[in-house]
Formats: sequence, structure tokens, C-alpha cells
Amino acid sequence: KKGQKIDGKKEFEEHCAVCHKGGGNIVNPAKTLSKKDREANGIKTAKDIIATMRKPGPGMTAFDKKTVSDKEARAIADYVLKTFK
Ligand code: HEM
Repeated sequence: KKGQKIDGKKEFEEHCAVCHKGGGNIVNPAKTLSKKDREANGIKTAKDIIATMRKPGPGMTAFDKKTVSDKEARAIADYVLKTFK
């Protein structure tokens, strides 16, 4: 909502944690959110993480802008980058 601060952790728990609990990946264990796995798969920046949300690979839910706004997506990406090393 307008003028409200977005909590990246809360958004992550709501939309992502069902598959990526603790930064893991219960569907494809080779593609966790750890820096090592992400970077091996070319996902390095917040922009890359947002692109994955909008157009994911096999087995991951796609998140359109109605479900996760650009601002929420950015907050989630920043949370992922700072949390999963
Ligand atoms: C892959 C983020 C929700 C399942 C990934 C990757 C990222 C990511 C960054 C790439 C990881 C890597 O290559 O090491 C997110 C975010 C989510 C979300 C931010 C919430 C907005 C979900 C959900 C599911 C899921 C809900 C399960 C229904 C997967 C799977 C892959 C993946 C299976 C591997 C896809 C492939 O083979 O390319 N996710 N994810 N993700 N995620 Fe998610």
C-alpha cells in the first residue's frame, strides 16, 4: 500500500518460504538461495532475483506485479541478498 514501508522478510515468508525455507530449495535442492548456488546460476543482483520471480525456471511459481509489486519484489530481493550468504 502507498506510503507503507515494505518488510522484505515478511514478504519472503509469505511468498517464497514455502519452497525456500531458510534459503534452501525443497523442489530443486541444487538451486538454493545461497550466494554460491545463485552465482553459479548467474543470479548476482537484485535485478536478477526480480527477473527470476517474474519469469522463473521449472518448478517455481511465477509472481506477476499484481501478486508482488515491483517495490515488494525489490524488498524481497534485498532481503535474499543480505540474508542468504
Ligand atoms: C529458483 C527466488 C518462490 C521453487 C529460484 C532462484 C531464486 C528464487 C533466486 C534461483 C536460485 C539458484 O539458481 O540458485 C524465489 C523468490 C520467491 C520464490 C524470491 C518468492 C517471491 C518459489 C516458490 C517455489 C520455488 C513458491 C515452489 C513452488 C523454485 C525452484 C527453483 C527456484 C524449483 C529452480 C528453478 C530452475 O530450475 O531454474 N527461486 N523463489 N520458488 N525456485 Fe524460487
